[in-house]
Amino acid sequence: MQGKPVKFLYLSEPEMIKAGVLDMKQCVGVVDEVFHLLGKGDYLMGGPRENEHGLMIWFPEKKRFPNMPVEGPDRRFMAMVAYLGGRFNVCGEKWYGSNVANPKKGLPRSILTVMLNDSETSEPLAIMSGNLVSAMRTGAVPGVAAKYLARPGAVSCGCVGAGVINRACLMAIAEGVRTLKRATIYDLDMGKAIAYAKEMTTLLGIEVTPVATLKETIVDADVISVATAGVSKATIPTEWLKEGSLLTLTGTAELTDDVYLENTVIADNWKMHQAWLVEGEEHPKGVESILSWAPSAPIIKLILAGKMTHGDIRSLGDIATGEVPGRKDDKERIVFVTGGMPVEDVGWSYQIYLNAQEKGIGQELKLWDEPHWF
Ligand SMILES: NC(=O)c1ccc[n+]([C@@H]2O[C@H](COP(=O)([O-])OP(=O)(O)OC[C@H]3O[C@@H](n4cnc5c(N)ncnc54)[C@H](O)[C@@H]3O)[C@@H](O)[C@H]2O)c1
Repeated sequence: MQGKPVKFLYLSEPEMIKAGVLDMKQCVGVVDEVFHLLGKGDYLMGGPRENEHGLMIWFPEKKRFPNMPVEGPDRRFMAMVAYLGGRFNVCGEKWYGSNVANPKKGLPRSILTVMLNDSETSEPLAIMSGNLVSAMRTGAVPGVAAKYLARPGAVSCGCVGAGVINRACLMAIAEGVRTLKRATIYDLDMGKAIAYAKEMTTLLGIEVTPVATLKETIVDADVISVATAGVSKATIPTEWLKEGSLLTLTGTAELTDDVYLENTVIADNWKMHQAWLVEGEEHPKGVESILSWAPSAPIIKLILAGKMTHGDIRSLGDIATGEVPGRKDDKERIVFVTGGMPVEDVGWSYQIYLNAQEKGIGQELKLWDEPHWF
């Protein structure tokens, strides 16, 4: 029997941009579809629990060999794998490494690539630059959360952290909340807040104002987007949260226990956070190993202390499909926690692959004309 040639599409970052990776309207639509598929259960992520965020290379505390990396802040390699059903029906992987020293070398902190494969044969369909896929899908998640969970008629957004991710978050929240009129931005570095405000005002056509204190950006906000990086975490007490507000946490923040205990807590997909807990329990250092970086760590601590139960936390996919209720009334305060999922990377990158095919963008590469052995 004649072997089958296998070709796939290679998409560089400029080609990803041409194919529409920065189109937040389309991205929010696709990520919304992904949450519907999550709610229906038409997806698989890695591991026996089918809900693993990814498989991480944990670097050791001390150097074991001259070249072996050691652990450090935001230092990791991660393989994030998923099958996504529905119209996507595709398998894929986002593979990345992160090193805070990279920017000094002219590189982003994390460098990501995505691979998509035919779910039946496993033939590669595409290999693509993943940095913008990841930033856009990460931002899209609070946008979808705000669509379902923000108070009807919400007008104001408070942003904490003027980095790459919060640019994408505000773009998406403006998509998800069509009534949004204004936003504020707080960053430890005022220069970054000013630059963010200028850029986002032009991009979104709403007034974005830099503010000098964290409190100013929280107290007036109907939707709050926290996406900070580094050791200094924003401390937000519950009394700052306006009635009816939605607090979205894309990075970590220091919230007092009452914020979780007295308000409604919703996660992107709680099953994934439960899988993190199991991973922590299996780690030689125990659950402590995940508590310093997992965005759901404060909730996990409350569960382990017997103050909350897994059943207290709803997942966004179940709300999107109507399986469980979303916002109760205009007064309810909601805390939304997201950890990032490979299904989001697979969904958004598959859409860009389709766009690229339609527009004739990208380079076709060959795996083989005929397999050497089969
Ligand atoms: N959930 C997900 O899927 C996902 C995906 C990617 C990144 N992230 C997280 O998003 C966060 C932001 O990432 P990024 O790439 O935009 O980082 P970045 O370094 O580009 O920006 C972070 C900004 O936060 C500011 N900051 C730090 N501490 C602060 C504080 N206490 N108060 C106010 N501002 C503060 C910094 O000055 C910086 O401008 C990180 O925590 C990252 O891990 C989450």
